[in-house]
Amino acid sequence: MFHPEGPTFKELTIQALSSTTRGYDLIAPKFEHTPFRTPDGILKPLMALIGSPGSIDDGLDVCCGTGAGMQALRPLCRRSIAGVDLSDGMLQQARARMDERPELAPATLTQRDALDLGFDAEFDVATCFGAFGHILPEDQDRFIAGIFKALRPGGRFVFVTRQTPGLTSRTFWVYHGFNAVMKVRNAVLKPPFIMYYLIFTLPRALEVLTRQGFQVEVHDIFSEPYHNMRAVVATRPRT
Ligand SMILES: C[S@@+](CC[C@H](N)C(=O)[O-])C[C@H]1O[C@@H](n2cnc3c(N)ncnc32)[C@H](O)[C@@H]1O
Repeated sequence: MFHPEGPTFKELTIQALSSTTRGYDLIAPKFEHTPFRTPDGILKPLMALIGSPGSIDDGLDVCCGTGAGMQALRPLCRRSIAGVDLSDGMLQQARARMDERPELAPATLTQRDALDLGFDAEFDVATCFGAFGHILPEDQDRFIAGIFKALRPGGRFVFVTRQTPGLTSRTFWVYHGFNAVMKVRNAVLKPPFIMYYLIFTLPRALEVLTRQGFQVEVHDIFSEPYHNMRAVVATRPRT
């Protein structure tokens, strides 16, 4: 549909009718050819903002999928990189990608819910790409608290989000239309497929991050076509 090697419309529909985990298991072999894989046009400027190659010890990518974020973050890591995701199919793809570069920092991939990370002050940088729509608003504080706990004091959670689009914009109505369809789907079909747009836009992200104790900076670093996106650097205070 999007790319000759990408999933067909039928495959995407079957994905959406499955649970979140099963849906990603099904789509995993073709995921890199969908527009849902975070593009390098986002990842490259963001990594330049985080630091130079070899400038951090341990990195974590939450909801790592097939490893797009890990591939970008790994050269910055001196000691280790970890990825967690719910979908075993996505993790298998990420593992294959990590195995292609054995000269880089050792990579650990673990099947784990982002709401139950269970890490304790183990990472200098955490990232998360393309997955905030899978975290329901009522779970966002728990999600961010887990990332805060996973970071060492002074550690940074770095990600990308966007300003909330205006009521008159096409983006607003397209995404809210999608959300309405998902709400109906989840009301009639179990297990749910959790995916809602615009639920962690910049104002909401700042609110939750601040409440969970982060110090937050926002950077306007992206060029077209990502000029509406903002890089967020949330730092766990040292004391
Ligand atoms: C759109 S993909 C993004 C993958 C990758 N981060 C990227 O940017 O290309 C979303 C990923 O989040 C994972 N995911 C969704 N909910 C999750 C949860 N509660 N815990 C862990 N992973 C989750 C899915 O399995 C999927 O791999």
